[in-house]
Amino acid sequence: MQFKITVNGKATNVDVPEDMPLLWVLRDVLHLNGTKYGCGIGQCGACMVHVNGRPARSCLTSISSAANAKVVTIEGLSIDGSHPLQVAWKDVDVPQCGYCQAGQIMSAAALLATNVNPTDKDIDNALDGNLCRCGTYLRIRHAVHAAAKIKRESTKKTAPKTTSSGSKKRQ
Ligand code: FES
Ligand code: FES
Repeated sequence: MQFKITVNGKATNVDVPEDMPLLWVLRDVLHLNGTKYGCGIGQCGACMVHVNGRPARSCLTSISSAANAKVVTIEGLSIDGSHPLQVAWKDVDVPQCGYCQAGQIMSAAALLATNVNPTDKDIDNALDGNLCRCGTYLRIRHAVHAAAKIKRESTKKTAPKTTSSGSKKRQ
């Protein structure tokens, strides 16, 4: 069956069974191998992607339910590794074996899209469904805080300057 799907900004058609998990479409049909298969039953978060801007476990998302959706995978976060999470992940040197990390980063990206000043609790809640058998949780939390700071600072730099009365200053 034909399905249209937009992955990392690129619209594409796939011809697959309607119950095929999005995870297999991404990995086996579109050859985007950054998204990982961990448990296949929604328990580990290794397969996390964004579907229409929300985090989704691609092992539990059928292609028919993702038809016409906009999907973002770890490969689509930035083309040059410049996303604040990618920068912070490198600075903090988060990964150990690395297997869970794409899913962790995608959950963190969904959090930072709506909250650029998360508390430890916000981070723990947002990444609650992402397991790391290597136990990198503290470094993950540290990196999410670091990424949030990068994001806040870059937003400040690009925000229009205001005068003391609060009106926008002409550039
Ligand atoms: S592979 Fe999808 S949640 Fe584990
Ligand atoms: S870094 Fe090994 S499972 Fe998380």
